[in-house]
Amino acid sequence: MISAERIPNNVGLSSNKRLQRALEHWQPKYIQWWRDMGPQGFQDYHQVYVRTAVSVDPSGWAHFEYVKLPEYRWGIFLADPIHDRRIGFGDFMGNPVWQEVPGEFRNQLRRLVVTQGDTEPASVEQQRWLGQRCPSLYDLRNLFQVNVEEGRHLWAMVYLLHSYFGRDGRDEAEELLERQSGNRDKPRILDAFNEPIENWLDFFMFTMFTDRDGKSQLLSLSESSLDPLSRTTRFMLTEEAHHMFVGETGISRILERTCQLMKGAGYSGDVRKIGGIDFETLQKFINLWFSLSLDLHGNEVSTNAASYFANGLKGRAYEEKWDDHKVTEALYELEALAEGKLEKRHIPMRTAMNEVLRDWYVGDCQAGVTRWNKILERNGFSDRLGLPDRKFNRGIGMFSAVHFDPQGHQLSDADWDRRKHEWLPSGKDREYLLSIQSEPVYEPGKFANYIAPPQRGIKGAPVNFEYVRTEA
Ligand SMILES: [Fe+2]
Ligand SMILES: [Fe+2]
Repeated sequence: MISAERIPNNVGLSSNKRLQRALEHWQPKYIQWWRDMGPQGFQDYHQVYVRTAVSVDPSGWAHFEYVKLPEYRWGIFLADPIHDRRIGFGDFMGNPVWQEVPGEFRNQLRRLVVTQGDTEPASVEQQRWLGQRCPSLYDLRNLFQVNVEEGRHLWAMVYLLHSYFGRDGRDEAEELLERQSGNRDKPRILDAFNEPIENWLDFFMFTMFTDRDGKSQLLSLSESSLDPLSRTTRFMLTEEAHHMFVGETGISRILERTCQLMKGAGYSGDVRKIGGIDFETLQKFINLWFSLSLDLHGNEVSTNAASYFANGLKGRAYEEKWDDHKVTEALYELEALAEGKLEKRHIPMRTAMNEVLRDWYVGDCQAGVTRWNKILERNGFSDRLGLPDRKFNRGIGMFSAVHFDPQGHQLSDADWDRRKHEWLPSGKDREYLLSIQSEPVYEPGKFANYIAPPQRGIKGAPVNFEYVRTEA
């Protein structure tokens, strides 16, 4: 018998027998999945100082304690309901939001929930070896915090599947634990979630750029007419903010350290010789994870995106900031590729909704890169990091058929093959990163040579706090 008290929630779990029964069946499989595919080597003997959401008010999701990871209390939370909430966009604008799934949109909504849900365990799988080469206990704890929260996001989507999608929903919930990141026969649904994350530069770039795609998607789902989906994703956004914090500050600390090392060596020479991560390598990893995450927003022109918007399933980020919420007449100016040539084209904005969300995403990423450049400036370096052109290295959409350099100039296939490792991580770059990360740093207050300590610790604890401890 599953105890509802062990699952913090605000969905009335203890009085919902149907949901309890469904979770009783699913939860043991989830725990088995966590043991098999979650953080390797940190299941039974380590306690981690993590935040557990115990309610949705600010004090309730700032509850910190030491826990063994498999004993984390994964909860189910919806943001507070909004009184008399109305559909805010699309053809049904102004109608009351839905508390149940309308039959005619059942398949589309299930698809959206499953696609979002699939990314959550996928990222835990991708990151499962990183604990073995962590740069500090502080970073190890942050990795595990992100991992348990991605696990909770899976719970959030499984709650929706079990509660609102009947039998199909239950089947989908099982399959979320059966697909595996990078598995040839049963891969995760989206490509970026099948890429290995083998070193900490990948991890920080992933949490900076790919978790930010998560934010894009959650912002648009939080506008949904399906109220439980909106309320679930609104609460998930509060956790997502921490993931992007981990990514952005992780890279900031690497940059800071690279600057220190270079200044110490008189600004010149190869910083790799003294164990640092050079600006060129950082730029290549930006190029990789930014372009992979752009792909996650889908095709530039999409009838699916148009119908998600028309039917009120997925809105734009911060829909209330737009003037026109029906978008029946508006056009979108798209940079497009026609017979190998770039041109400006005007298309109905509803069909460009993926591109509209991508615009928001690019702006949010740019703000982070601008903050990174302040570190270079403050340290007296003239080098700058930047986002590559959005046509660079695309695997989805119209630009995937042709190659572009990071400035957006078209390249022949031969030029691309010859030059791509000027812009994307090479085998050598990855070897180097693994070589400086081969020894994990488990001593409180110590940091790997390539990364600076954070400015402060977690929740008022000092930087040298024992964020992960083994049992006495
Ligand atoms: Fe997530
Ligand atoms: Fe996340």
